[in-house]
Amino acid sequence: MRVGILTGGGDCPGLNAVIRAIVRKGERHYGDELLGFIDGWRGVMDGEFMELDVEGLRGTLPRGGTILGTSRIQPYMFPDGVERIRATIEREQLDAIVAIGGEGTLSCTAELHRDGLPVIGVPKTIDNDIGITERTFGFDTAVSIATEAIDRLHTTAESHNRVMVIEVMGRHVGHIATWSGIAGGATMTLIPEEAFDIEDVCAALARRHERGKYASIVVVAEGAKPVPGTIEIPADEYDQYGHIRLGGIGNLVASEIEHRTGFETRVTVLGHVQRGGSPTPFDRVLSTWYGVAAIDAVHDEAWGQMVAYVADEVIRVPIADAVAELKPVNPQLWSVAREFFA
Ligand code: F6P
Repeated sequence: MRVGILTGGGDCPGLNAVIRAIVRKGERHYGDELLGFIDGWRGVMDGEFMELDVEGLRGTLPRGGTILGTSRIQPYMFPDGVERIRATIEREQLDAIVAIGGEGTLSCTAELHRDGLPVIGVPKTIDNDIGITERTFGFDTAVSIATEAIDRLHTTAESHNRVMVIEVMGRHVGHIATWSGIAGGATMTLIPEEAFDIEDVCAALARRHERGKYASIVVVAEGAKPVPGTIEIPADEYDQYGHIRLGGIGNLVASEIEHRTGFETRVTVLGHVQRGGSPTPFDRVLSTWYGVAAIDAVHDEAWGQMVAYVADEVIRVPIADAVAELKPVNPQLWSVAREFFA
């Protein structure tokens, strides 16, 4: 078979490991020819790609980012987008395209399947918010980086008796915040799933500090929202694809804490550090598992399916079902996190 691969949306540690695994099993086991499109669906529309083979992918397993490049450009943004995809598939005599992406890329892939194209999905995102699958690769790496940052903030916070606010990624859901908050022993964690009342946050910190000379760590997911009317938030800004540009809630929370409690407070916005660099062993394994499962799905012509990690197995589920709803933080785990607040 001739199989195209693309990576779309924000990059994520483990993308190269997925590409490597697809190429390895595709070439060595099935005798496939593989090509990688540049910058996600943009490269498919423009017919821009590179040939991929096992030799050329040596050394990519631990490498962060994506050797193919990525973008948030999608065919449905253009009147002739789908026709351009069909033309590339025909011209390059492709039997399938494997799209590795998050919510945006996979939603578009599900639509292309409805439009009759031979596509397979692989879920990626450090946010871990894709439905059905219990894990997306990149999440474990992001949690490790955030946890290490929290560990480091503890020692400087303790030396100065300060409140440290750390803003982590998590656009719509607070998986990274919840996991790193528990792993790092946060005093409090704020996530998008539950609006926070800044008065309650400050009162809890004050109670804790009354019990002794304590430092505190407050983990804030970038998409966390205050209870309406409690804090004035600046108007949303949007990027060129219509996504809200997040970042800023950490600074807001820190200044409210300092203002309302008088505790000296500092902010760390972890940002894209969480998405860069080498994947953890877990993410390397999951990415490799997904890649092998994806090329098997191609050979079974399981069009419109996404590989998913469920109950310690990689299975196939319809992409459309996986993107129907974002996966929130497990309520049981959230109640574990709450046990340790303040
Ligand atoms: O969706 C993954 C993600 O890392 C989010 O957590 C974050 O809000 C967003 O991407 C950042 O996007 P960009 O790289 O375009 O700033």
